[in-house]
Amino acid sequence: MPLSRGSRNVRYTPRPPGHYRRRVDIAAFQGLLTPEGQALLGEIGAADVDERTLLATASRLRARHPADLVGAALTQARLRVRGRAKFGADADRMYFTPQGLEQATRASVARHRARRFADRLGGRSPRATVLDLGCGIGGDLLARARAGVGGLGVELDPLTAAVVRANLSAFALEDLAGVRQGDAAAQDPEGHAAVFADPGRRTARGRVFDPEAYLPPLGTVLALAGRAPGACVKVAPGIPHEAVPPGAEAEWISDGGEVKEAALWLGDLAGDTPRRATLLRQDREAATLVADPGLGPPPVAGWRRYLYEPDGAVVRAHLVAEVAAGLDGALADPRIAYITSDLLRATPFARPYEVLDVLPFAVKRVRAALRAQRTGNLTIKKRGFAGDVERLRRDLRTDGTEERVLVLTRVGDAPTALICREA
Ligand SMILES: C[S@@+](CC[C@H](N)C(=O)[O-])C[C@H]1O[C@@H](n2cnc3c(N)ncnc32)[C@H](O)[C@@H]1O
Repeated sequence: MPLSRGSRNVRYTPRPPGHYRRRVDIAAFQGLLTPEGQALLGEIGAADVDERTLLATASRLRARHPADLVGAALTQARLRVRGRAKFGADADRMYFTPQGLEQATRASVARHRARRFADRLGGRSPRATVLDLGCGIGGDLLARARAGVGGLGVELDPLTAAVVRANLSAFALEDLAGVRQGDAAAQDPEGHAAVFADPGRRTARGRVFDPEAYLPPLGTVLALAGRAPGACVKVAPGIPHEAVPPGAEAEWISDGGEVKEAALWLGDLAGDTPRRATLLRQDREAATLVADPGLGPPPVAGWRRYLYEPDGAVVRAHLVAEVAAGLDGALADPRIAYITSDLLRATPFARPYEVLDVLPFAVKRVRAALRAQRTGNLTIKKRGFAGDVERLRRDLRTDGTEERVLVLTRVGDAPTALICREA
């Protein structure tokens, strides 16, 4: 019998997995945006959602509010506490999903990128917009809008789309940026000044390394990016240099000395360098270094008075030769990114250590040399050296008064230890 309207039988339409759970989640999330939800969220402080107090908080609040609203508010309050690591105090006004927070670009990096968009697109009229393919909870979209760059975020997941919408509203940015729930692959970049994409690199089964397994896949994103005048695509810092499209500028970014990500700048957003390392530094302007096309590989020489450890972004961007040239330095081993020099010169791109002793690596010899220097606090660094550092630290048993840095590396096939101190 054909099914018709009014029939008690309803047509069955298959839904994607998680569909009904999502609808419940979205309804609970929307509840947070009502006056009651806002009042409830405002009432919950960080101390209320601590592991030890959470249950008591939940039962106290359930006496006055519906259980699903309390559940959503507690989840959100806990995510805000976690979100402070990436977003600072802004996290207390933002909305997250657990996955959205995990995947979001940290504010320092998003601000840096947003400034570059603003510098390149800011003056364009009518106002230039950026199509953000897979905008997540809006880490990048918000940062660009706050820098005055308009945009349209596209997000496949309905709950995440609702969350990013709430984030734009929390910062009164709806006039600058909007959100469309849908598939990035179906979007038309026509009319936008640029495309931005930060494809997901995690699936339910964990981290993905193949760019075609990114969500959306890198190929899809690059094809759409190629249809806009300019584009920026965030990729894993470990992206092989061969995978960088011709004509693109690849920028590796570190924050506080830790490499956070890489981005490919394409079309009219690319600079006139193929590779750049940018170091974000708290309370100071970012330091940025670009490739010198005329520079050959750095010279190779024996250890000199200072050892410089280049920032990870410099190493990933293959700019060690550029830093070595600025220090009149050399490499002790051409495959290992430790620079050695007789000069002590301040550079944001590498950290200097004074070399006090160099010896072939053997636990007994290193222990004796550290003892001779009355070593107490010991920092161990290694590059090109296989071995269990924590086990070695136990074996070395340093109990003196001096602070030392033990650098473990190799020169050719010879494992080598350098005893250093901060310069
Ligand atoms: C890494 S996150 C983006 C994070 C964002 N840049 C931020 O800072 O918050 C990638 C997002 O793309 C979404 N996504 C995955 N495939 C998509 C597709 N085909 N169309 C639209 N969005 C998609 C995911 O749901 C996820 O929220």
